[in-house]
Amino acid sequence: MKKKLLSLMLSLAMVATIFAGCGKSGDTATTGDATTVEDAADAAADAVGNSDLADKKVGVCIYQFADNFMTLFRTELENYLIAQGFSKENITIQDGANDQATQTGQIQAFIADGVDVLIINPVNSSSAATITDMVVDAGIPLVYINREPDADEEQRWADNNWDVCYVGCDARQSGTYQGEIIADLGLDAIDFNGNGKVDYVMIKGDPENIDAQYRTEYSIKALEDAGLEVNKLDEQVGMWDQAQGNQLVANALSKYGNDLEVVFCNNDAMALGALEAIQAAGRTVGEDIYLVGVDALTEVCEDVLKGTITGTVFNDHISQADSAADAAINYITGGSNEHYIGCDYKKVTKDNAQDILDLLK
Ligand code: GAL
Repeated sequence: MKKKLLSLMLSLAMVATIFAGCGKSGDTATTGDATTVEDAADAAADAVGNSDLADKKVGVCIYQFADNFMTLFRTELENYLIAQGFSKENITIQDGANDQATQTGQIQAFIADGVDVLIINPVNSSSAATITDMVVDAGIPLVYINREPDADEEQRWADNNWDVCYVGCDARQSGTYQGEIIADLGLDAIDFNGNGKVDYVMIKGDPENIDAQYRTEYSIKALEDAGLEVNKLDEQVGMWDQAQGNQLVANALSKYGNDLEVVFCNNDAMALGALEAIQAAGRTVGEDIYLVGVDALTEVCEDVLKGTITGTVFNDHISQADSAADAAINYITGGSNEHYIGCDYKKVTKDNAQDILDLLK
């Protein structure tokens, strides 16, 4: 992002120099809007930061600050909004502390404060209809992120032509990629206990989230689609949390011992917890067990590179945050958005983990 901005600024500076040259030679012909150095400089300023946005207020609600992935997301969101011309003091980001009542109070406060746009990562996706009604009634455009409201709710935005949209990725794709990373190893490599099946445990995120539901379902579907027989030893809820992932996998390892061949975690935080449990149990990823997550946190990409985690799936917080900010800007500046703005996941294995790490820097 920073690199893109820098090169854009450099090109605009070059344009400014060219126009400055025209002026000096006495050429009075005008080309577009940028007829003077000042105009070109203004154009450059507009391109890297729209001054009209400086006094606009953005309210952002995050379901919980203590979530590794959403921390990356909100950091990128704030930086990108500032790069587009918003003032830092006009961007307020609230921590819902994983409590819908707390978050609803924060949304009401944002409405009372007259924010120009709201970007909301709901605590409960099932509260979306209530949230939408409140925000639409107040005449404020709304961009949902990360936790997708259901199809009926999205249909209402279209039917009523409301300025409401969702930015996120299709979690089915991330589940499928997790399953494919394991299936690509082949049964011979996976089947340590020789029972002809893939014996696995599933560590789920918050079961209310469609991401947790789809990743759980589609990772296993991908194994079956690849012709592998599966055996679910256990399925437990770790709420996207590293400490819970650690505890649950420690339990599974002591219960199933060497029969546990694959640990699927719905996200990387839980996979990091799982890795600690695997190592504490004296097991070795890649040698007697496999482990996959989703998100591509820096630490996990480093583990994938070392082989201590089998693979992960890049949940592109950069593109999601930038798209959410762009959608907010479109609404503020009188434009419109598609009601669903998607983004692709990317499979991460040893082969490309370094590329993803480079991107995350
Ligand atoms: C998922 C992400 C998880 C967690 C969750 C919160 O997309 O993979 O790590 O952040 O969102 O809703």
